[in-house]
Amino acid sequence: MSNKLELGVNIDHVATVRQARGTCYPSIVEAAACCEAAGAHGITVHLREDRRHIQDQDVYDLKSMLNIRLNLEMAVNPEIVDIALDILPEEACIVPEKREELTTEGGLDVAGQKDEVGHVVQKLTDAGVEVSLFVDPDPEQLEASAAVGAKVVELHTGTFCDASGKAASEELERLIKGAQIAHNLGMIVNAGHGINLDNIEPVLKMPWLNTLNIGHSIIAQALFVGLEQSVRDMMARMGQYNGCVGL
Ligand code: PXP
Repeated sequence: MSNKLELGVNIDHVATVRQARGTCYPSIVEAAACCEAAGAHGITVHLREDRRHIQDQDVYDLKSMLNIRLNLEMAVNPEIVDIALDILPEEACIVPEKREELTTEGGLDVAGQKDEVGHVVQKLTDAGVEVSLFVDPDPEQLEASAAVGAKVVELHTGTFCDASGKAASEELERLIKGAQIAHNLGMIVNAGHGINLDNIEPVLKMPWLNTLNIGHSIIAQALFVGLEQSVRDMMARMGQYNGCVGL
């Protein structure tokens, strides 16, 4: 079976380096062009409420230059929803967001805020944006995601990637089952968070994967091999995926 697994490169941390000094470099647009040249299928950025890395203008710039998909990660926040509706990225991934966190912690509680999430899913979908919900591999959250009209879920791999031993095996089992449940509910299955060259192999045991969104490790590895090579190395690893094989 041919490899259909796609890579979305999250380039937030190119902006982290820029914002650390308030410079105009490194360029987000140049980074995106490198990822595109290396064969990435999409670019992901998270426009956070605190604008700690990606800025509004970055998202506009990416939308106008990219030949591959733009995936905007965003919280359920009216200001950010309005920006998304103005930019109209190909995809939007709704994530939970806390000011004090270092990075997204845990999946979105869709079951606990069905009306609020459902409203944003509807608004963005009506505008032609494909919406995914970033959720833990929890059957209740997956059922709620389908119920609010999401066509795509991104399963949160961060807990697995941070775990070891028995906890890692149990979380991998949850991810494998979660992917199957999401597929059975008719949703496209993506995954992401915390994936690197060392831990990707077990992640590829998840069935029905469409796209992996990977950021921090690709940008970190780029310091040593360059961004294009770093993207190519990850894609080569993803080439081991043997496709949409269910449980
Ligand atoms: N997917 C989502 C929903 C995220 O919030 C993030 C982090 O911004 C990623 C994927 C990428 O995670 P990492 O940077 O750990 O590869």
